[in-house]
Amino acid sequence: MFRRTLMNGAIAFAVVALAGAVQAQTAPADRPWMNTKLSADERAKLLDQALTDDERYGLLHGIMPIPFFPNAKIPEEAIPGAGYVAGIPRLGVPALYETDASLGVTNPMNVRKGDIATALPSGLALGATWNPALAYMGGAVVGEEAAKKGFNVLLGGGMNLTAEPRNGRNFEYLAEDPLLAGVLAGEAVRGTQDQKVISTVKHFALNDQETGRNVVDATIGEQGFRQGELLAFQFAIEKGKPGSVMCAYNKINGHYACDNDFLLNKVLKGDWAWPGWVMSDWGAVPGVSAAVNGLDQQSGAQLDRQVWFDKPLKEAVAKGEVQQARVNDMSRRILRSMFAVGVFDTPLRKGQAIDYDAGAAASKTVAQQGIVLLKNDKNLLPLLKTAKSIVVVGGYADKGVLSGGGSSQVTTGTGHAASIPVGGDGPMVAWASQVYHPSSPLKAIKDKAPGANVRFSDGRYPSEAAALAKDAEVAVVFATQWNMESIDAGDMSLPQGQDQLIAAVAAANPNTIVVLETGNPVLMPWLTSVPAVVEAWYSGAKGGEAIADVLFGDVNPSGRLPITFPASEDQLHDRQIAGFGYVGPGFGDSPEVLAEKGKGFEASHPEGSDIGYRWYARKGFRPLFPFGYGLSYTSFKYGGLKVSGGDTITASFDVTNTGAKAGADVPQVYLTARSGAPELRLLGWNRVELAPGETKRVTVTADRRLLADFDVKARKWRIDAGTYDVAVGASATALDAKASAKVKAGALKP
Ligand code: BGC
Repeated sequence: MFRRTLMNGAIAFAVVALAGAVQAQTAPADRPWMNTKLSADERAKLLDQALTDDERYGLLHGIMPIPFFPNAKIPEEAIPGAGYVAGIPRLGVPALYETDASLGVTNPMNVRKGDIATALPSGLALGATWNPALAYMGGAVVGEEAAKKGFNVLLGGGMNLTAEPRNGRNFEYLAEDPLLAGVLAGEAVRGTQDQKVISTVKHFALNDQETGRNVVDATIGEQGFRQGELLAFQFAIEKGKPGSVMCAYNKINGHYACDNDFLLNKVLKGDWAWPGWVMSDWGAVPGVSAAVNGLDQQSGAQLDRQVWFDKPLKEAVAKGEVQQARVNDMSRRILRSMFAVGVFDTPLRKGQAIDYDAGAAASKTVAQQGIVLLKNDKNLLPLLKTAKSIVVVGGYADKGVLSGGGSSQVTTGTGHAASIPVGGDGPMVAWASQVYHPSSPLKAIKDKAPGANVRFSDGRYPSEAAALAKDAEVAVVFATQWNMESIDAGDMSLPQGQDQLIAAVAAANPNTIVVLETGNPVLMPWLTSVPAVVEAWYSGAKGGEAIADVLFGDVNPSGRLPITFPASEDQLHDRQIAGFGYVGPGFGDSPEVLAEKGKGFEASHPEGSDIGYRWYARKGFRPLFPFGYGLSYTSFKYGGLKVSGGDTITASFDVTNTGAKAGADVPQVYLTARSGAPELRLLGWNRVELAPGETKRVTVTADRRLLADFDVKARKWRIDAGTYDVAVGASATALDAKASAKVKAGALKP
């Protein structure tokens, strides 16, 4: 009955998988790999042996199923979106239906007419919750929606460390600290894969700027690499066990990330023994050599110069340049992850109803917990619901909340509330629009204060906004900084004269509150004249409501910065982003110009693993707002710190809510010195909900690698015996309670 209603092969393939699940215990004799009692490794091996050569190569490359690309043949059964790798019906191998998904299931250029999805807040908003349970929930929401839309691979799990605060994609990433980013990314992956959808962590590695992303060479010493960016991925991969890892566009120490023996073979598959498959970023494969150097699958192959992992790879095998065993390893890894995550055994969910209200509620919780209260002089916030007059200014607050652009762009709810083209040229211009999700902060503010005269100024003319704000009880200025994949922020200021706007409104009204909707830290030249500042990031499907909840105190803010806000760009290790002004290849470029652009440039990483707060500590700089910082409408106190040593550090302490309101605190435990040598590293944290007057005891045990140095020569983590100093604090610079303990010498595998 069901079979007769099948519309296309996409459903047919998945139904085969469903049949497999039903027959799990008694796999048909001709499909022994469908025996669920066997391990994923055993099943993959059995199936791999049954593949013909053509079937095997078919698994090694995919397309971007969007009609946008003239030379792409899009099979009817592909689901339009980011990626598609054909399945093998003869053997019941489902196709890989891939969707972008860091912040929700995407629908690029509306290829699936009218298809919407839950938009989660930005990665940095999630990072600011410091709440692994919310990361899991977000991953599960996106995974479930993806499954119900027919996808079985999420290209979600963006997690590069935010080493460069002007990076146009930081809004997709989580934090500047390896532990925070790694834990949250790992939980997001778990959430997704528990929905039986493969998750991908990306962009491996050091894809920390967009300027010249296809040509930039990120250079870094191995120790700093291992202790920073790589450690973040290592944590995420250990915790989440993603089926797939996406290698990045950039080079690392002279070799493209997707063609990088050190990164893919030695570290990822060697030292970490990760059994999944490496997929390329779209158009990131320089040649067949990538197969030897650890890449398993060429994604969106029409974006590369050639489909390397078909005929050219076959020829390389015939010539002995690539071992046949390696090609088998490539296909086996793909199949292994499909078995491990459950793609073969899970009944098809395509077409099942999606509960977008539940998704929006989840998104709202992330936004509520991720909003960071940066300043609140004289307790101007929370606002009284009995306020009589409020002026709201700027930021398209009448329409909705800002989102970030590029492949992670989600269309949510009733569709884009506003979409403002930014212009420019180059391949990504079609994506270059500032999109506002339909959740208007202005409306939400009106709903909270029904008796108030709430007026709105679009903020184009500072003098006009100031005149309107002058006689109101309070003015709330919404300031936006839009970011997008492929473009970095030119500098750290709020663009388009918004600093002037804020200064003018603040001069007219002493009760001015600034709500920032930014994809990155920004400079705040007006800070001393503004009593209250809230960082709302890109706040997702219900961002407007979440912002109003915080402004009016229905939610007590508990977000903590996952990235340092510098006081000036002079504090960064590069005054300007590497390659500043670099213009990528254009359609009309001559071969000479193309060759010149192709040479690229270097982005050195002198900070090594001293990213963000560690850099500030090393340099003695005082940031505008430190990592881990965020205010509350109540207050907290720490006491009774006890630290024990031995193999690792365990710290326990009391957190007390000393104020009059219920709230959540995020006390953080830092290593501050080893045998007298200063060192600042986050060892752990806890998010604690406390009623007024309540005390809870918190215990944090450090992952031993956070006490260690990576010994490059010996190729292992080395812990030196000594006295280790530890502090508990409300941020990386507010380190109150301090204690120390003796730690034993030790060594750990890489
Ligand atoms: C991005 C990836 C994305 C892919 C597919 C690339 O441009 O860097 O993050 O998954 O496109 O859309």
